[in-house]
Amino acid sequence: DWSVDLVIDQQIAKIREQIGDKRALVGLSGGVDSAVAAALVQRAVGDQLTAVYVNHGLMRKDESVEIERAFGASTGGAKLVMVDAEDEFLSALHGVSDPEEKRKIIGERFIRTFEQAQADIVAASAHDPDATDVQFLVQGTVYPDVIESGDADGSKVIKSHHNVGGLPEDLEFELVEPLRQLFKDEVREVGTQLGLPDEIVWRQPFPGPGLGIRIVGAISKQRLDLLREADAIVREELTASGLDREIWQSPVVLLADVRSVGVNEGGRTYGHPVVLRPVVSEDAMTARFARIPYDILDRISQRITAEVDGINRVVLDITGKPPGTIEWE
Ligand code: XMP
Repeated sequence: DWSVDLVIDQQIAKIREQIGDKRALVGLSGGVDSAVAAALVQRAVGDQLTAVYVNHGLMRKDESVEIERAFGASTGGAKLVMVDAEDEFLSALHGVSDPEEKRKIIGERFIRTFEQAQADIVAASAHDPDATDVQFLVQGTVYPDVIESGDADGSKVIKSHHNVGGLPEDLEFELVEPLRQLFKDEVREVGTQLGLPDEIVWRQPFPGPGLGIRIVGAISKQRLDLLREADAIVREELTASGLDREIWQSPVVLLADVRSVGVNEGGRTYGHPVVLRPVVSEDAMTARFARIPYDILDRISQRITAEVDGINRVVLDITGKPPGTIEWE
């Protein structure tokens, strides 16, 4: 019999036993899994946990601010270190349009940034005689990840794809994975029970490389801002329509190297298209395009073309997975 309170109590006891009086780090991605794992560990060992959030400049509109506020409030003020690495990421990505190249650069930058944050945290407490080792790394690994990686016997493996940008393989950490036995809907129940707000618990999955893999073409601040505006409109309309909990994910993709002719107030436009990619799925392994009512699509299309200067066309991706993937890169 599955009871959310029982799971929480058992995990808290287990986490306390594992961590003892040592310290732990958690990387927050903005996703539900890392947030719930962090909240559980914070509940278990309080200030021995430090959360690290890396803003790589590829986040959605207002996302960093929302994460900081929602995480701080719901955990009763857990220790949170916000790292602003936007400039470093964007200059490393300058002029790069190959999808795998982008992923590699973002992954490596992420590792360096996380290592630096870790070193800073250790250095900051170097003169505190009571400070214990930072020995544990909290991961939001969920049961489908465990199955997929063939890791059901409990041996410790860090997967690159499912964690933010992939964490360093040579990190000398012991993993704490309180969600290893849970499915996504159970993780959401635990999160709600722990008091995390709906905006975190019901957040759509978001890839570690962020909007960087939703711009087809080279990444720039200006292109990211265009995409952020369009994406915010889509999220707003889907939330307002009440459809967002049925939809697994609704990426918006900017075709930055494509332009088409349009007309606006009698004048010619020559702008970029965005692609809407709303999907329904159980686990992201397969997916179907979400059947969004035409009037909602119409409103989204009208708003984006009217409100986002530089985007003059909205197209809908109706490809399944397979043969498409959910993301375009
Ligand atoms: P695809 O595009 O392969 O995506 O159908 C399947 C799911 O994985 C997410 N995704 C990622 N998540 N790091 C992540 O944490 C990544 O590098 C990454 N790439 C894709 C994607 O958003 C979808 O939910």
